[in-house]
Amino acid sequence: STLLTGQTLTFCGNPLHEPWEECVRIDSAGAVLMQGARIAAVGDAAALKSAHPQAHVISYGDDLICPGFVDAHVHFPQTAMIASWGKRLIDWLNTYTFPEEARFADPAYAARIAARYLDLTAANGTTTVASFATIHPASVDALFEAAALRGQCVVTGKTCMNRNAPDDLRDTAQSAYDDSKELIARWHGKGRAQYAITPRFSPTSTSEQLSALGTLWAEHPDCLMQTHLSEQTDEVEWVHSLFPDARDYLDTYEVHGLLGARGLYGHAIHLTPREVDRLAEVQGRVIHCPTSNMFIGSGALNLPALAARGIPLGLATDTGGGSSFSMLRTMAAAYEAAQHHGHALHAAQLLWLATAGSADALHLSGQIGTLEQGHFADIAVLDLRSTAAIAQRANRSYSVWEDVFATIMMGDDRALRATWIAGTCVTA
Ligand code: GUN
Ligand code: ZN
Repeated sequence: STLLTGQTLTFCGNPLHEPWEECVRIDSAGAVLMQGARIAAVGDAAALKSAHPQAHVISYGDDLICPGFVDAHVHFPQTAMIASWGKRLIDWLNTYTFPEEARFADPAYAARIAARYLDLTAANGTTTVASFATIHPASVDALFEAAALRGQCVVTGKTCMNRNAPDDLRDTAQSAYDDSKELIARWHGKGRAQYAITPRFSPTSTSEQLSALGTLWAEHPDCLMQTHLSEQTDEVEWVHSLFPDARDYLDTYEVHGLLGARGLYGHAIHLTPREVDRLAEVQGRVIHCPTSNMFIGSGALNLPALAARGIPLGLATDTGGGSSFSMLRTMAAAYEAAQHHGHALHAAQLLWLATAGSADALHLSGQIGTLEQGHFADIAVLDLRSTAAIAQRANRSYSVWEDVFATIMMGDDRALRATWIAGTCVTA
């Protein structure tokens, strides 16, 4: 067994619903005991050392030992075209995204990008992602295979599109159903793999395809379902013209059996009151993608307002609509988006969103997202003085939370002292 000592971050509640001081704690002399792939104990460093004298001790000093970050909405196939200039959503998809996704017809290319993507995210402290693949089933195999090599929990699924996409990126209602079903049988629940049924968004699926995927979800209710919802206002108008009978954008999912608590709805910025009510009622997950929302010009989600309605929330980079692989940068953008609506999220709330909150959004909170006995040893260790600019700010701090906030606002991959996945250090 291995004992990591440092400052440990633990949760005993949801700091978006309760005062953060009552449910988030940093223990300045904490430790995490790992046995194999799992966490065996979390507690006081001296006590755990004497109880486990045989454990190999790795001392991280004043570094912050956190749960690994959980990025709840990404597109790993967009890794190579991240930070593409000058377009808003629909033009950005047509100009940059679809040509890159077409390359994934080559399984060797898919495997190369999957490995590159998991290396880049691990370097940023991210230990689990929920990713869209491309329409090619082999792109799903590529990410699950790369994750299995790393002992890593990932969620992914074949992106389904049968209209408003280039010829070489279209499936059919039937092939989307058949291919997704076969991938569920091959991967869902194998090791740490979790399958998500993945209609890209309503504009790229016919009613027939959405229905077929709703049927598939009803046949596999333990799978997640991931899609996009109300990201840009002209997209919302387009959905209205494509589905004239729908009450709103969310309704295009609901009438096809694609609304539920295991549904992950990315962006969800421009919601009507009915859509907010409905998401709250069914506990559909809203995944906040603030770096992407600023980068593509989508708008600032009012996350505190959705939290107040009891809607479960996750946080995500939305790579490559998001312009960064870093969940630190994404927490900073979440802070800025909330400020836009007059709310200041505390560092404890931001860290919760990036770890336990996202894990709960993915229905994986029994496995990951907190430092807890029995959970997988998926851990990010943060150096709270990683650059000269951050270190000089830390010299003025009167509490560790000020240090943490400075690292959230100004930190990048240099702040990662180490990332552990299933008890193995993957950044050595
Ligand atoms: N809406 C549909 N597809 C996409 C995508 O790939 N990225 C983003 N940001 N929004 C989308
Ligand atoms: Zn997306």
